[in-house]
Order: sequence, then structure tokens, then C-alpha cells
Amino acid sequence: MVHLSIQQVGKTYDDGTEALSSVSFDVNKGEGVVLLGHNGSGKSTLFRCINGIENTSSGKILYNGQPIHDLSKKEIREVRKNIGMVFQQFHLVGNLSVFQNVLFGGLGKSPSSISVFGPFAKQEMRMKALECLDRVGLIHVSKKRADSLSGGQQQRVAIARMLMQEPELVLADEPIASLDPSAGKEVMDLLWSVVKERGMTVICTLHQPEIALQYAERIIGLHKGRFVLDQQTSQLDDTRFEWLYEKNLKNLSKEVISVD
Ligand SMILES: Nc1ncnc2c1ncn2[C@@H]1O[C@H](COP(=O)(O)OP(=O)(O)OP(=O)(O)O)[C@@H](O)[C@H]1O
Ligand SMILES: [Mg+2]
Repeated sequence: MVHLSIQQVGKTYDDGTEALSSVSFDVNKGEGVVLLGHNGSGKSTLFRCINGIENTSSGKILYNGQPIHDLSKKEIREVRKNIGMVFQQFHLVGNLSVFQNVLFGGLGKSPSSISVFGPFAKQEMRMKALECLDRVGLIHVSKKRADSLSGGQQQRVAIARMLMQEPELVLADEPIASLDPSAGKEVMDLLWSVVKERGMTVICTLHQPEIALQYAERIIGLHKGRFVLDQQTSQLDDTRFEWLYEKNLKNLSKEVISVD
């Protein structure tokens, strides 16, 4: 079942930068996709268009058949409740506790935002937050300030917060770029296992093709805002990714789908 359909999406920023150019692909429910591409290839822009933070300049984005490119702000907020985000810089609230940060994840879906917090938080939400923290192995630090944790732990809190939200689709934008290899592996193992066990769809950007191959079922590549690679991982080996990072695609092999 098609979950997300990107149809000839273009994005040109006000300053004239063309970040995306006629990008098209579909993602099925439950797929685990890694999005690769050099710095500035348009990966984060595409994520911002998918969750409606940024308007597209052309084309269509359908999420469960709903046209993201054509919804009101209120409608987009509703859709966004089902899209979880994980960022390179974690985006936790540093001076709140780990537990409160995870409760935050439930804000969107709680009938009353205020009821989620502090002593007023509903018991059910608090139990759920503890379960999410337990799943990421951090229940023992639940009372600590979020900014007192290591980078790897903070990213695991961000994953617990995302679990609290119970999204259908997870967009992870360079979730391990700020982490050392060992913490990065822990975070990728955790992220991939939680999304798979809950049947979530995930699109994750990475800068390491060799890591992409370990997790993704499918790899998509962007180059200068164009969609240039779409392969099932089982059909790929890492040596075939080098061309994706070439500045000039002219001399590249036939895997390139469409270039100038
Ligand atoms: N708000 C903005 N205004 C103007 N140009 C922008 C804006 N945001 C991004 N860009 C430009 O759009 C292009 C794509 O940027 P984007 O951040 O989407 O790339 P990326 O693939 O996520 O890169 P990275 O790997 O460095 O995170 C780049 O040329 C960037 O400079
Ligand atoms: Mg980016």
C-alpha cells in the first residue's frame, strides 16, 4: 500500500536556490528507506516538504492519499501528528527532565496539552512515557536534565519521545551524524528495531553508505536536488555508491537514472 507519494516535487527557495527538481517516488507502508546524497542535495528540504513545514514550489505530495501540498495549516498539523521526526541535534528541551521530554511526544495526541504535564499529567500518559523510556533502556535516568546526558543517550530519549507520539511515518534526518561510531550503531540498531516492531514506515538520511546497507531495505539517492538512485539494498554493494558523491555526474555509470 502506498503510504507516501512524492510526485514531481520541485522546491525553489526565495533566493532562487533550486533545492529539489522534479523528484518522484512512492514509499509503501512499513518500508525502511535510507536517503543518501551529498551536502546540499536536498534531503532535509524534502523532509520539510513532506511534513508541511516548507511549501513545495511544484508537484504533489500525497500522504495516505491526502495532498500535503494543498492542505490548510490546521489540516497539516493533524497530518503531522502521525509523522515522527528524529534530528541530528536531538532537539530536546535541555532544562527539562528526560521524562518530561518524553511526555512532550504525547502532546499532539493528548486531548488537552496541559493535562500531559507535571503533576497534572494523566497517569496513563505517564505510564506510557515510562514504557517508552524503558524501551530505549533509559528509565534509570528519567529524572535527569536532558542536557546532562551523552549525545547517544539524548538521541535515545528523542527516539522514546517519537515512540510516545506513535507516528505512522518516521523521518530521521542524520540521526547519527553527531555521534561516535559506537553510539551511532546503538542508535541505528534501536531506531530500526523500534520502527520495525511497530510496523512504522521510516525514511532516514545518512552520510555513510556502508551503514545504509546494514539497515535499509531500499536506498534512494539525491544529487543536486534530483532523484538519481532507487534500489533495493539486496541488489547493491557499497562500491556502487561512490558516484553519488561525485561533484560532476557526467562520467558516471548507467545506474544514474536522470542527469543533465
Ligand atoms: N531556507 C533556505 N533558503 C535558501 N536556500 C536553502 C534553504 N534551506 C536550504 N537551502 C539550500 O537548498 C539546498 C538543499 O539544502 P538541504 O539542506 O535540503 O540539503 P541536505 O541534502 O539536507 O544537505 P546536508 O547533507 O548538508 O544536510 C542547498 O543548496 C541549501 O543551501
Ligand atoms: Mg540536511
